[in-house]
Amino acid sequence: AEDGLLIVAIDGPSGTGKSSVSKAVATALGIGYLDTGAMYRALTWWCVDRGIDLHDRSAVAREAQTFPLAMGTDPAAPTVQVGDRDIAAAIRTPSVSAAVSDVATNLGVREQLIRRQRELMARVAAETGGVVAEGRDITTVVAPDATVRILMTASEEARIARRAGELASTAAATRAQVVDRDRRDSAVASFMTAADGVVTVDTSHLDFDGSVKAVLAVVDEGRGRD
Ligand code: DC
Repeated sequence: AEDGLLIVAIDGPSGTGKSSVSKAVATALGIGYLDTGAMYRALTWWCVDRGIDLHDRSAVAREAQTFPLAMGTDPAAPTVQVGDRDIAAAIRTPSVSAAVSDVATNLGVREQLIRRQRELMARVAAETGGVVAEGRDITTVVAPDATVRILMTASEEARIARRAGELASTAAATRAQVVDRDRRDSAVASFMTAADGVVTVDTSHLDFDGSVKAVLAVVDEGRGRD
């Protein structure tokens, strides 16, 4: 970019290794990291904690605008806080995972969180020289002008196997969670196929190190062209 900031946008469904790879890539590049899915999870946790009905769309969208969210953007130690509460672990519970699509498909919520994501990305990039932001709509909506845009994919089998490992649950139970959630989330963001100009990195047959290398190669390439 003209300002010399390196903005890396990474989208994809769950179970591709997106989060761990994005963090490692940000660390390797010495720039900030933003997990936008954690922001939808944090809002879900906050509304449940305050007794707000997740189906009350305008009430939840109001909270999205004002809730006291603080995202820590150091890729070596990312944090999620609301007020002075550390909720990094609380937002990964199965109950939040099951409820988060209701919040993420609320268009009023998306408008507010996208605004907050853009502000955060600009601030972090100004501080560190760049940012890796990952989610479902970063390449298409949040940062369509990013220096490098990547869609991380993996076969359904590979994604289910990885998630089952993380959750220590059976493949059959995980299949329902992963596939159903991606289907619900696809209603508001297109992340199963690459948009124009977005480079696909298929991690089906790559391990963690291989995935990091593949993404860094795409970043190098995209940077050269910029
Ligand atoms: O990546 P994740 O599982 O932590 O994402 C949590 C939820 O938020 C998931 O249901 C998809 C949704 N999400 C979204 O709609 N847009 C984003 N940019 C990131 C996540």
